Amino acid sequence: MKIAVFDTQRYDRQALEEANRGHGHELAFFEPRLVRETASLATGFDAVCSFVNDQLDAATLELLRRGGVRLVALRSAGFSHVDLAAAARLGVPVVRVPSYSPHAVAEHAAALVLALNRKIYRAHARVREGNFSLDGLVGFDLVGKTVGLVGTGQIGAAAARIFRGFGCAVLAFDARPDEALASDVGLRYVSLDDLYRDADIVSLHVPLSQGTRHIIDAAALAKMKRGVMLINTGRGPLIDSKALIDALKTGQVGAAGLDVYEGEEGIFFHDLSNQVLKDDVLARLLTFPNVLITAHQAFLTREALAAIAETTLASVTAFERGEPLKNEVRAPA
Ligand code: NAI
Repeated sequence: MKIAVFDTQRYDRQALEEANRGHGHELAFFEPRLVRETASLATGFDAVCSFVNDQLDAATLELLRRGGVRLVALRSAGFSHVDLAAAARLGVPVVRVPSYSPHAVAEHAAALVLALNRKIYRAHARVREGNFSLDGLVGFDLVGKTVGLVGTGQIGAAAARIFRGFGCAVLAFDARPDEALASDVGLRYVSLDDLYRDADIVSLHVPLSQGTRHIIDAAALAKMKRGVMLINTGRGPLIDSKALIDALKTGQVGAAGLDVYEGEEGIFFHDLSNQVLKDDVLARLLTFPNVLITAHQAFLTREALAAIAETTLASVTAFERGEPLKNEVRAPA
């Protein structure tokens, strides 16, 4: 099949070309994001392969269909950027990569906790300047602290195991509690309010949906322990960024580790170092000494890239052969 691959970086190309040796599809790589304005690039292709910051709204999907596209293959687990109802109306199946390496994301969440707590990024900058002072670098022991996980699917479960390994108590909230996980790992399901009240660290692992958009708003932040550490490797809009800034200014939030940001489209994954940053909220977040931002890189391990590429191309191969699409996502009935 001819596949137009959007929003690609060097590492995507390498992983997809490597995996494609076993599939033999025709891959064309495009740097731009897949949005209405770029959809025509896919004219004449059988499938598009898209990433998290593309916008597959109804108009984009209609343009793709008109250009001959018969399959949308997402290189991501999340699919909140796709109008699934419109895709179904157009008869275009949407496949995703439901699981590639939950460990990659959970380990990145832990990396953010450790780096923020022990101020590794500040220490690194300091010693390179010849400043060997320790003033302002005091952290806390993780052992005995309480971590609150919002979402205990694949990534939340992996995070629970990591934090239990550090000797933390783990509280969790999930719409569908996993009691087997709870007894296996030794975590306790509680209400969101109790989690906010008791957790020293809150880490977000729920998907983005109408129910979770701004789940962390001013009211939620006010319920948390003063000085809480907030980690988001889920999706940017889980947090109301302006409310977070207010809470950082008052000290209600003591540290924030953000791998995702609600205005990240068009910013993350791009080198904008020669440009003026136009997003004032992100610019403000970047000024806090206790905020650590990474540009949606939690998934970025060799193992995850290889798994994403293989699952994506296997779905395209299954589609080509008329086989069932086990990774298809459908709009809720
Ligand atoms: P999953 O589907 O295995 O787990 C999600 C969990 O959230 C489930 O247990 C579900 O019951 C729970 N949940 C869903 N809606 C809820 C609600 N309204 N309230 C409470 N619980 C709710 O998903 P997985 O693989 O653990 O991934 C989680 C999210 O992480 C993805 O949806 C994606 O947005 C994000 N992600 C971020 C990456 C990054 O690079 N930063 C990479 C991969 C995923």
